[in-house]
Amino acid sequence: MSGKEILRIEDVKVSFSKRSNLFSRGGKGVVKAVDGISLSMDSREIYGIVGESGSGKTTLGRAVIGLIPICSGEITVFDTKISAGSRRRDRLYRTKVQMIFQDPDSSLNPNMNVGRLLAEPILINRLRPKKLLQERLEELLDMDGCV
Ligand SMILES: Nc1ncnc2c1ncn2[C@@H]1O[C@H](COP(=O)(O)OP(=O)(O)O)[C@@H](O)[C@H]1O
Ligand SMILES: [Mg+2]
Repeated sequence: MSGKEILRIEDVKVSFSKRSNLFSRGGKGVVKAVDGISLSMDSREIYGIVGESGSGKTTLGRAVIGLIPICSGEITVFDTKISAGSRRRDRLYRTKVQMIFQDPDSSLNPNMNVGRLLAEPILINRLRPKKLLQERLEELLDMDGCV
């Protein structure tokens, strides 16, 4: 049984100008970090991208979440189309498409308690009016068996 298509990547290319590092001054030319990738993923799928270091996995992920622009091709996430020259993704997009970082310990601010950590994205993305926030926090904590 297949679900609804939620991500389509069509012939996407991302290039960077060569950057300098400790050993080189960068110089002319471009790095073709992602060079013509296409894939389609539906809502019931988990997609793994495997490749050697430097093969463009992170760059592709950053392009999908709108952190870096693409040079050509098209990415469709839900109903949003991203092409070369698209403007930055808006707030609504960021509530639907997000990165889960590899190290959960460094993703959470140790100065905040669980309530504040959960409240922050709800407030920033205006997902609930402030007066209904407590209700939503309790729902979320309840889902996780915390209250
Ligand atoms: N912001 C950037 N500026 C210049 N080059 C970059 C940048 N980000 C990535 N690259 C280069 O793009 C290529 C792909 O990198 P990356 O997507 O991080 O690969 P992976 O995640 O598969 O290890 C590498 O050659 C890397 O040095
Ligand atoms: Mg990477």
